[in-house]
Amino acid sequence: MSNGSGGPAWPPRGEPAATAGPRGGERRPLVAANWKMHLVRREALAWCRAVREGLQSPAAELVVFPSFPLLPAVAEAIAGSRLSLGGQDLHPEAKGAHTGDVSGPQLRDSGCAWVLCGHSERRRDHGESDELVGRKVAAAERHGLLPVLCVGERREERQAGRTFEVLERQLRAGLTGLTGRPARLAVAYEPVWAIGTGDTATPATAQEAHAFLRRILGESAGAAAAQGTRILYGGSVTPENAAALFAQPEVDGFLVGGASLDPGKFLAIIAGCGRAG
Ligand code: 13P
Repeated sequence: MSNGSGGPAWPPRGEPAATAGPRGGERRPLVAANWKMHLVRREALAWCRAVREGLQSPAAELVVFPSFPLLPAVAEAIAGSRLSLGGQDLHPEAKGAHTGDVSGPQLRDSGCAWVLCGHSERRRDHGESDELVGRKVAAAERHGLLPVLCVGERREERQAGRTFEVLERQLRAGLTGLTGRPARLAVAYEPVWAIGTGDTATPATAQEAHAFLRRILGESAGAAAAQGTRILYGGSVTPENAAALFAQPEVDGFLVGGASLDPGKFLAIIAGCGRAG
């Protein structure tokens, strides 16, 4: 994170760290749908239609993360709407002999503004290390994509009292390669034990983890950057539990998996994050 001049490299001086919004005027809520490896084109297009029709002046900024083959179709289907597009992963290199991988420029070319980095399913299924995730975040920045850096402890780590140690290691490693320009990283706290299990973190547990992550962000990047960075919660978010989680001052929105596949549930979660007034 050092820029060689002694101060924090991120965010760059002179650029606003904060995004305007109703959260104390500092952080606009952000709600994202991570479709994971679900939906085919026909289903994806139906989802886009339903969500577009159902959106009523959301207070939140909205992003959808489809599988790679769906990106062009979804880009077209959400054009002119309040939804932005993101990729679920990217390779740290801009191009090259990396069969099966996708680069930042390719994501940009497909209409993406965002990209997930270090989702726990990538760490689990593809052995992604903290160091690799840091290089992906840096690549996202280099290619003009907004990274959502995903962190979260596994159940046995929480049970062993290692939650904060894991979160600090993942967060600091994820930020290592950032040098400055877009300065609009979001962080997603996704406790692995809560993903797809129905075992949602309690509002107090989420608040505690988010407050800790913001403290580490402050140490790494300065207080202003930390105050302007959205920290999302992910892990069995539903329309039933979203409002109580969002009521926590450090919870700035959600990264929703299973429930996001149902347009009605996704819309209800968005509504739980307030309306633009
Ligand atoms: P679920 O909402 O299905 O638990 O998934 C959370 C997640 O991993 C979002 O990235």
